[in-house]
Amino acid sequence: SILIVDFGSQVTQLIARRVREAGVYSEIAPFNAAEAAFERMKPKGIILSGSPASVTEAESPRVPQHFFEAGIPILGICYGQQTMTHQLGGKVEGGESGEFGRAFIEVSDRCALFDGLWTEGEKHQVWMSHGDKVTALAPGFRIVATTEGAPFAVIANDEKRFYGMQFHPEVVHTPDGGKLIANFARHVCGLKGDWTMAEFRETKIAEIRAQVGNGRVICGLSGGVDSAVAAVLIHEAIGEQLTCVFVDHGLMRMGEADQVVSLFKGHYNIPLVHVSCETLFMNGLKGETDPEKKRKFIGKTFIEVFEAEAKKIGGADFLAQGTLYPDVIESVSFTGGPSVTIKSHHNVGGLPERMNMKLVEPLRELFKDEVRALGRELGLPEIFVGRHPFPGPGLAIRIPGEVTKERCDILRKADAVYLEEIRNAGLYDAIWQAFAVLLPVKTVGVMGDGRTYDNVCALRAVTSTDGMTADVYPFTTEFLSRVSTRIVNEVKGVNRVVYDYTSKPPGTIEWE
Ligand code: XMP
Repeated sequence: SILIVDFGSQVTQLIARRVREAGVYSEIAPFNAAEAAFERMKPKGIILSGSPASVTEAESPRVPQHFFEAGIPILGICYGQQTMTHQLGGKVEGGESGEFGRAFIEVSDRCALFDGLWTEGEKHQVWMSHGDKVTALAPGFRIVATTEGAPFAVIANDEKRFYGMQFHPEVVHTPDGGKLIANFARHVCGLKGDWTMAEFRETKIAEIRAQVGNGRVICGLSGGVDSAVAAVLIHEAIGEQLTCVFVDHGLMRMGEADQVVSLFKGHYNIPLVHVSCETLFMNGLKGETDPEKKRKFIGKTFIEVFEAEAKKIGGADFLAQGTLYPDVIESVSFTGGPSVTIKSHHNVGGLPERMNMKLVEPLRELFKDEVRALGRELGLPEIFVGRHPFPGPGLAIRIPGEVTKERCDILRKADAVYLEEIRNAGLYDAIWQAFAVLLPVKTVGVMGDGRTYDNVCALRAVTSTDGMTADVYPFTTEFLSRVSTRIVNEVKGVNRVVYDYTSKPPGTIEWE
C-alpha cells in the first residue's frame, strides 16, 4: 500500500484516486497522524501532498524525519517536494512571482518516473500552482525536468528512490499525471496494481463493522445513487442492524419512487420504511415562489419527517449518509488536530447534531464514477447505478415559481419523454445530467385549427466531470426537433419547447 501524507491541499483526494486507478491501495493520513498510519500500514511507498502552507514559515508542517530513513520510495508533490528538500538539506525560497495554471515542462534527463512515458528533450503540459520553489537541491538529488518558472520542476534521488515534482500530477490538467503516479506506485514502489473495487468493498465492510459494533444504523434514501450504494454496502456489513427510511416527497421523477421501493424491499430485502408525504410537501410549497425558501422548506420538512420516523424506529446510534468526496471539504488545521468542514447541500444536513447521532459515511473518499463502479460491484442494476445525479429538492427546483402537484405531473411526463429519447439515441451515458424544466410562462400556440395558451418547457443537458463546471451537450437539430414534437404532442399542458444553451459558469446546472 501507499501512504499519502496530507498537508491540507484541496486536491489530496485526487492523489488517492490516481493511485486507485493504478490498481494500488492507498490511505490518506493528515500530517500530524502520519506516524501512526505509517506504523499500522507499513507502506511500500509514501506520497507527500501539496499544501496552502509555506515551507519558509517556521510553523509549517513537516514529514516525520524517520520516513526518510525507512528505505522506501517517496514522492513529494509541490509542498511535498519543498518540505522534502528543506528537511534533507536543500533550500526553498518564496518566489517573487508564483506560477499558476498551465505550464510546459521540458524533460532534461531520464528517471524511473518517466519510464515508458517521457524522454529527454520532450515538452509536456503540466499544471502548476505554487508561490515558493526549490532553489538548491538536497544532497543526492538531480534535476530531470524544468519549466521556465521552476528550474527544479522534477527532481530525483535515484539511490534513495525519492522524487519531487513542483507541478500537480493528480489534476486532469496534467494529462500524463495519472501515468506518472502509476509509474511511481508500480514501477518505483514495485506494487502489483491488482487492487480492485471488490477489495474496497471488503475493506469498507470491515470498517463499518468495526465502527458500528452492535449499534443500530438508520439511513435516509433519496432515490439517488449515492444513498442507495451506501445503504446496500452497509446492509452487507451489518444486515438487519440497518433500517432505511425513504421520505417520498412526491418530487421524484417518473417511476423513481417505485423503483427504490422494489429494489430495496424486493431485490435486497433491506428493512425499509416508505413514508409517502406528497400532500405535506405540496401544502407547504403552496404560494411559495422564492427558490431559497422552497429549498429551505423542503430541507427542513425532510428532516422533520425523517426525525419522526427515526424516533418511531427508536434506538438508532448512527446515521448513514452517501456523502461523496466532492461534498466534503477536508482541511487540515496547522495548530490543533485535523479539522473537518462539511459543505453539505445534502438533504439530511444538520440532522446528526440535532439527533445526537454519529455518522457512517462509507463513500467519503469516492468520486461519482467510483461510487457507480462500487454500485455495480454490489450488484445494483445498471438503470439505477448509471442514473444521472438528481438534486435533493427534486422537481421543485425545476419548476420555477409555484410548485403544484399538477405542475409536477406535467414536468414528470415531459422529462420522461426527453429521457426516453436520450436513451433511445444511446446518449444517456455521454451526458452528465439531462432534465426538463417547466417554466412559469404561458405562450400562445396553434394546434390543429385552434389557439393554445400553455406552458413552456425548457430542456437542459450538460457534460461535466464533477458538477462544478459544465458544458452544454451539443444535440443535433434533428434530435431536438424530435423531442420537441413528442413533448408538445404527448404532454398536455405544454405547447412550446426551448433548449437551454448556457454553460456553467455562468449558469448553474439546475435552474434554481
Ligand atoms: P448546480 O445547479 O449548483 O448543481 O450547478 C450542481 C450539481 O448539484 C446538484 N444539486 C443538488 N444536489 N441537493 C443535492 O443533493 C441539492 O440541494 C442540490 N442542488 C443542486 C445538481 O443537480 C448538479 O448535479
